[in-house]
Amino acid sequence: MPSNKEVGIVVLLKLRLEAQPGFPDLDWHCGDVQVRRSSEDPEVEVFPCHKWIRTADGNVELRNAKKVMCLKKKETLAILTNHRERDLPTKTTVYQVKPFLLINGPHCVDMSSVTALGPNFSYIRQRYPVNNVHYIKSFIERRTSWSSLQELETFFLFNGRENTIAKYVQAHWQEDAFFGYQCLNGCNPLCIRQIHNLPPNLSVTSEMVRPFLPEDSSLEQEMEGRHVYLLDYEVLDQLPANTVNDKQTYLAAPLCLLHYSRQGELKPIAIQVKILNRFLLILFWLHWLLAKMWVRNSDFQVHQLLSHFLRTHLIGEVCCTAALRQLPEIHPLHQVETKFSSKNHAVLTLTTRLLLFSCGESSPEGQGVPQSFQTAAEMCKFVTMVIFSCSALHAAVNFSQVCSVINKLTEVPAAMSRPPSQTKGSVSEEDIFSFLPEVNSSCHVLSVLSLLSQPAIDFVPLCSGATVKLVEEVWRELKMIAKDIADRNSQLELPYTYLSPDHIENSVTI
Ligand SMILES: [Fe+2]
Repeated sequence: MPSNKEVGIVVLLKLRLEAQPGFPDLDWHCGDVQVRRSSEDPEVEVFPCHKWIRTADGNVELRNAKKVMCLKKKETLAILTNHRERDLPTKTTVYQVKPFLLINGPHCVDMSSVTALGPNFSYIRQRYPVNNVHYIKSFIERRTSWSSLQELETFFLFNGRENTIAKYVQAHWQEDAFFGYQCLNGCNPLCIRQIHNLPPNLSVTSEMVRPFLPEDSSLEQEMEGRHVYLLDYEVLDQLPANTVNDKQTYLAAPLCLLHYSRQGELKPIAIQVKILNRFLLILFWLHWLLAKMWVRNSDFQVHQLLSHFLRTHLIGEVCCTAALRQLPEIHPLHQVETKFSSKNHAVLTLTTRLLLFSCGESSPEGQGVPQSFQTAAEMCKFVTMVIFSCSALHAAVNFSQVCSVINKLTEVPAAMSRPPSQTKGSVSEEDIFSFLPEVNSSCHVLSVLSLLSQPAIDFVPLCSGATVKLVEEVWRELKMIAKDIADRNSQLELPYTYLSPDHIENSVTI
């Protein structure tokens, strides 16, 4: 659009979408606005926008491409300082926060629907149709227990026929080495800890586990040699359990001791499950498969509520909302793309037990969220943690959720239908199935996890489409890492692809 007036140097440009009678009131997406001093002048000044504009927005102010990111102290013109100061009051009104569930717990954005976020922040994920789920539908009405392992195997065959990982799991799901493998390569690699002393709440002695250690060694020696690990689900102790199919389900707070053998295998060697405030210590010879199921069931809860929802979705939402409210669009941190997530999970009282959200206090594990940053390095570390949590960590804990059906049905039950019990003698196959979720609830969980694990059609890989030089360098590094991971995976019977940068999304999207 030509102008006859001399406008001088253009540093700020106002754009407005006006409703026209007879035309629908549609949102328009603006890439950028280009300005020439005259039609003969080859030089073009670009004012990037990259956002949807609505008639209700009024004037949208755009800055020159040469200065789309800037700290306040680096502003040289009063008009631009005023611009950034005008930006925030509206944002703090639009993006309010509220406690997610409890006053003392984490907060989330205070909006009733995704559409309230407006076109620039709402995102509808486009996904491929889920494969092999139609067969689940025929089981979804059945409110009875699975009748036998054979029935499960048949069910599994429909799912696993073209899936090499599922076939591997079908063959190995009862083995201790596969249990240990999943502690590091499954969907929740965050719980396992190397230990050098036995925790006081684990009633295990060196003598008890001697049969599972090398003949010439002891538990103390193995701990000293950094070969002993612990899974501790004490955080679940006394949590109220859900009702499924109108029936009470049960939670445990087990502890599981693992040993890394000289053959390079990580295996569980003792499991302790609490029963009515007493401990049931389970060693290799007693109800071993059932004990492993209790551990994996607890891992499922911790994975969904803490590792997945709280540490990726909610931390992303909290930081994104704070950035939107407190930082003008021109601030470099505002450019860190963090998308909103759904908030329909139940975190219950678990959130109040988390040191992660004890703001301002340093936890023993150094996980406290600081109330302020004293140096740029401190802030950089925190922002890196947020980017990692919303991209790589989320990819690892989200897309690995359905490695196979049988694994989720048996070894990793979503709920336990009976409380832990101290049964003498061997446990029959029928006993084991009485602990597992009923057919319909198993299938429902599987359907949801299948959906969550599907990649999006509009998948945006981490750092892709970057226009900032520094990010381009990171993108090149990520490509090299992806190649190294692909080479390593080509040598593995069970490849681990979730942390390959070409599988990591730019942000939390599902
Ligand atoms: Fe997710």
